[in-house]
Amino acid sequence: MKKKIGVLPGDGIGPEVVAEGIKVLDAIASRFGHKFTYEYALVGAAAIDETGNPLPDETLAVCKRSDAFLFGAIGHPKYDNDPSAKVRPEQGLLKLRKELGLFANIRPVTAYDSLLHMSPLKVDRVMGVDFVVYRELTGGIYFGEKGRTEDTAYDHCTYSYAEIERIAHLAFKAAQNRKKKLTLIDKANVLETSRLWREKVTAMAKEYPDVTLDCMFVDNAAMQMIQNPKQFDVVLTENMFGDIISDEASVIGGSMGLLPSASVGNKTAMFEPIHGSYPQATDQNIANPIATILSVAMLLDHLNLIDEAIEVRQAVNASLHNGMVTQDLSKGQGFGTDRVGDFIVNHILDGEASGSQ
Ligand code: IPM
Ligand code: MN
Repeated sequence: MKKKIGVLPGDGIGPEVVAEGIKVLDAIASRFGHKFTYEYALVGAAAIDETGNPLPDETLAVCKRSDAFLFGAIGHPKYDNDPSAKVRPEQGLLKLRKELGLFANIRPVTAYDSLLHMSPLKVDRVMGVDFVVYRELTGGIYFGEKGRTEDTAYDHCTYSYAEIERIAHLAFKAAQNRKKKLTLIDKANVLETSRLWREKVTAMAKEYPDVTLDCMFVDNAAMQMIQNPKQFDVVLTENMFGDIISDEASVIGGSMGLLPSASVGNKTAMFEPIHGSYPQATDQNIANPIATILSVAMLLDHLNLIDEAIEVRQAVNASLHNGMVTQDLSKGQGFGTDRVGDFIVNHILDGEASGSQ
């Protein structure tokens, strides 16, 4: 199968972890006889430095003509102390989402048995945690009208039935393929937009009689996620609540360095590790490549290359199981970013050598 993959390494450790992701895609291509062609493009601070624009037109064009694209990370310390800087790396990401219509951000949260001791939560609360967050990504307060006078400011939050419906269908379908439970997180006791979400999603539940819908206020959900994270299966929420809840969820399993994400719409889709650009670790060969490699697995799923995605996940499990991990997951020194990638690549290629699938 031939596929065009866009590659946006971005800033900080982005290029290093993305390089490992591409090695894994190459291994899959060779093992399964596919042809992946890659087109690289600039985004974030790297793009500002080169062109003055965090999302140059050429980058957008590369993404538009891709079947899917891999994204590293964006952000550079020189922008961190000045949130009001006119041009910021984050604008590149927000524009990418909006322009490409990537309306659903999907973040699986899995607690790996070998890493339970690293969770900030008690082991018995974390063991067996396995849920996925569906965050709406192109609406709400992020993209509403904004304004500022000298001493006041506003950010409008607006949602339409159509915006709610398209992501809710994805979330209900995901629940049907999992434990058949959907939790809608909102603030319907206060916000009109949340009441719209609740009304629409509750009405849609009739189309999915096998899925149990549960509605939860966001403040309670933030607490429940710590007290009893095992209760969740598929979590659905709007843009801003999803931003906050998914960061909270990301630490439950013990390491952010393992968590992948997908941002999907109607055409191309974007796959990225959920961690940031981790500037202090840049070029030190210590960044954990697994979140990116698991994002590659999600990319393969998206291209309907299901066996290929399973193969990648098995290779990642083997690396965790064998202690072939970077320093963030290791009691000792840990292995380099490239060594962990090599192990995963060899595991995939060895399957070829032994003829097993
Ligand atoms: C995320 C990030 C972005 C967001 C920032 C970088 C704009 O925090 O992907 O969750 O708030 O959506
Ligand atoms: Mn965030």
